[in-house]
Amino acid sequence: MKVLIVGSGGREHAIAWKVAQSPKVTKMYCAPGNAGISEFAECVPIGAMEFDKLVSFAKEKEIDLTIIGMDDPLVGGVVDAFEAEGLKVFGPRKNAAILEGSKAFSKDLMKKYNIPTAAYETFASAEDALAYLETADMPIVLKADGLALGKGVLICQTLEEAKAGVKELMEDKKFGSAGDRIVVEEFMTGREVSVLSFVDGKTIKIMTSAQDHKRAGDGDTGLNTGGMGTFSPSPFYTAEVDEFCKKYIYQATVDAMAAEGREFKGIIFFGLMLTEKGPRVLEYNARFGDPETQVVLPRMKNDIVEVFEACVDGTLDQIDLQFEDNAAVCVVLASDGYPVHYEKGFPISGLDTFKEKDGYYVFHAGTKFAEDGKTFLTNGGRVLGVTALGENLKAARANAYEATEWIQFDNKYMRHDIGKAIDEA
Ligand code: AMP
Ligand code: GLY
Repeated sequence: MKVLIVGSGGREHAIAWKVAQSPKVTKMYCAPGNAGISEFAECVPIGAMEFDKLVSFAKEKEIDLTIIGMDDPLVGGVVDAFEAEGLKVFGPRKNAAILEGSKAFSKDLMKKYNIPTAAYETFASAEDALAYLETADMPIVLKADGLALGKGVLICQTLEEAKAGVKELMEDKKFGSAGDRIVVEEFMTGREVSVLSFVDGKTIKIMTSAQDHKRAGDGDTGLNTGGMGTFSPSPFYTAEVDEFCKKYIYQATVDAMAAEGREFKGIIFFGLMLTEKGPRVLEYNARFGDPETQVVLPRMKNDIVEVFEACVDGTLDQIDLQFEDNAAVCVVLASDGYPVHYEKGFPISGLDTFKEKDGYYVFHAGTKFAEDGKTFLTNGGRVLGVTALGENLKAARANAYEATEWIQFDNKYMRHDIGKAIDEA
């Protein structure tokens, strides 16, 4: 069968790598893709938001299954555009992708269906938000309602910071219309865990757990980024936590969406915080995590194409989803200065070493080919994700850091403490 993947980051590279292992697949395309993805898929220069062009391409090439990696097209209704032309596509429709697209929607859903999350209020006017803050406890969390590249969440320690945050989101419109409404939320503390799942509208199958490292610097300092590294499984995701989430969160979310007439098919990413009072949902995403995917998929045993098809066809209950009893760590190699100012266009060496070694992977996030069509150049803030497997987390971490040394490019930057939390488990 012919497969089209929509997206261009490390997540889509990991998906493409996994799809390439399916014996069912004869040809793969990626729009727009990146230099690394071109090893598995023919990259076509169509942007993820160019729905008409994507649909025309899928019809022309007789694509059997399209997989949407990114959030923006999902929230914008790309799945509806494909379905309207009778094309098979993996991902939630627009009316279900709102689970990620609107934080106010997801909070109201959790409240209505008693899914554990932080207490909150929603505001459509800055004046009302400011009045509320005067009476609220600090610290407090402000969230832009809409998509804001993962940057629309402000943790405010003082009333002054919170007031400035309201101004930034609602008056200065730092994230555009995403800040037309904001959610003001109780501040919680605890470990964070990412849990990805496959959903077919009714059935949900949970993947193995992972943890991201969002801050740019060692010791969780510096600015928020798209993610500087991950490990899987999370040793903090115990059997007890799993049992709680199965009882109160996972199936409850799928059932709530169905009850609202918003049947969810695709990936639900549960961002959880393990608080003293038990697990709480921090956020939902309607797609694979980046760079969580880079540690979860290398541990997955199933043919992922079969799982995608089961989600679309509503037969996920017949899939026995299985993961290896091992561990994986992914260290992101970024351009120094990310996420603010950084240079790009530097040649990358050492990539071939990964081809000779089992259990080591390099997923490209921001790379492109030089004019010669073969030299890889840095082309983004996050450049590569170096993933290694190991029999346990410590071994995987040692392997991943060893592999980061194989790669060289000017201004290479990485965190040195990815997975350090493992030592406390
Ligand atoms: P979100 O995009 O909603 O996951 O938020 C981004 C990050 O902000 C999360 O990964 C947490 O580290 C933090 N965060 C979000 N909501 C809260 C909260 N209610 N309490 C404490 N930290 C939070
Ligand atoms: N790693 C967090 C995300 O994908 O949103």
